[in-house]
Amino acid sequence: MFDSIARRYDLANHVISLGMHLFWKKKALRESRNFLKREEISILDLACGTGDLLKFAEEIFPKAKEKVGFDPSGEMLQRAVRRGLKAHFIRGAAEYLPFKDNSFDLITVSFGVRNFENRGKAFEEIFRVLKPDGIFTVLEFAKPDNGDLFQNLSWCYTKRVVPTLGGIISGSKEPYEYLAQSIERFPLPKNLTEEVERKGFKTLKVERLFPPITVLYIFKKLTG
Ligand SMILES: C[S@@+](CC[C@H](N)C(=O)[O-])C[C@H]1O[C@@H](n2cnc3c(N)ncnc32)[C@H](O)[C@@H]1O
Repeated sequence: MFDSIARRYDLANHVISLGMHLFWKKKALRESRNFLKREEISILDLACGTGDLLKFAEEIFPKAKEKVGFDPSGEMLQRAVRRGLKAHFIRGAAEYLPFKDNSFDLITVSFGVRNFENRGKAFEEIFRVLKPDGIFTVLEFAKPDNGDLFQNLSWCYTKRVVPTLGGIISGSKEPYEYLAQSIERFPLPKNLTEEVERKGFKTLKVERLFPPITVLYIFKKLTG
């Protein structure tokens, strides 16, 4: 499905989120840096798509030792490679990571966890390849968890407007209908946090951003 929309994926993201996705991604990296308290790190961006997060990582972690983008979609990866980033890209699924234990200081996933076929297995793999005290940062959508006006308005926009807008821009409405359906099935922030904690992580931060359909999660790998 992601292969089919890769060509127009970045444009659709800009228009649908009114450019907000760039702000969310930068914030996710800056907040991760605050918790890591160091810059010479190795970063793995899972479900990297066309490489937005790794692009911002060049600015926010200029001293990073290693940057790896990982995604099963060949079309998305081709676009990421063409950006000429100082990173290397590997094709594969988050449930099977071809890395040694304790390899990365920071693992990020922006708008990818919803697509994992087996979230539990992916979280176990992320735990395994993250270094002790390493940071696991997630950006993901969540449906409203109370009567907050902005939460409900942004959810309504996602369900009613985004499929039409996404369809016009990318030429395929289906992935954008899938977006709302997959958010509907996805755990609320409280439940996702519990799921990740059961795999051995400590929650450092859970914050609804603006508009509040987007949630930033930051976890730390606990050891000992
Ligand atoms: C909505 S895009 C997000 C791309 C990018 N992270 C961003 O924020 O723009 C979701 C990505 O998840 C990838 N994906 C789907 N299943 C996956 C899996 N099992 N493991 C890792 N990535 C997966 C897709 O190929 C797609 O590139």
